[in-house]
Amino acid sequence: MARKRLALKDPGRFSDPASLTWDRYVALQARERERYMAERTTIPHDALNYKTVSPQYLERAVDQFANNYYSELSATHYVATAAANAPFDELKKCALFQLADEQRHLEMDREVFERAGVPERDWLAAWEAPGTTCRFFRHLLELEDTIEILVKGNFVAEGAAGPGTFTVLADGAEARGDVLSAVNHRARIRDETRHISYGRALVKALIDDDPGNLDTIQTWQDESLRLFAEVARGGERQTWWEGFLASYYKIALPLGLRPTF
Ligand SMILES: [Fe+2]
Ligand SMILES: [Fe+2]
Repeated sequence: MARKRLALKDPGRFSDPASLTWDRYVALQARERERYMAERTTIPHDALNYKTVSPQYLERAVDQFANNYYSELSATHYVATAAANAPFDELKKCALFQLADEQRHLEMDREVFERAGVPERDWLAAWEAPGTTCRFFRHLLELEDTIEILVKGNFVAEGAAGPGTFTVLADGAEARGDVLSAVNHRARIRDETRHISYGRALVKALIDDDPGNLDTIQTWQDESLRLFAEVARGGERQTWWEGFLASYYKIALPLGLRPTF
């Protein structure tokens, strides 16, 4: 069955909320890079090399590392597809800047795996195990339509996962001595917030363009959140799951969407 597609009849309804141009984007990333490097140099050598965390922490953190690394890796693929198939230039531009951001996040997460000494052959198996974000991102990777990809990936998934979740993850990692993960999580919050903002602007434009689009967006939300539900592990991660849904509903309900759960 062909997937339902939405189009923006008036592309003028969408504009990049960050008003980025190439020059502004490059300057912004240079500033972010400087800030990141300054924070990273404050991490003591032993902490940077995971000598200060407990073996139990590392054992349990591998699936979190995999969730981080593979969601960023997936993003470099699905956002590239979104950019390639973008129906108008303003949306293509936002996707291309996001693509560069996600590549940077991917490199930060690869470093965590490497410094923590997790052999690369174990990474994928950790992500493919039950209870991870794998099912959601594999679904996203099968899509070709820019609008569906950005609604599901930016508005729903990033809207739910950040910025609240990144703060929780950063604080949790830091409390256990994993300072590199904490610095990485905090470094990506501003990028992820920008991805959410343009995802939200796109959803708002689609609804203003045709209120009938809301039904399809609701279906996309329901599909996405159901694929995420397994990450809650039947209540084992209740606090995380509640925060995840709450961040998403905070942006979705005011636009007329209904809770899935
Ligand atoms: Fe990212
Ligand atoms: Fe992102």
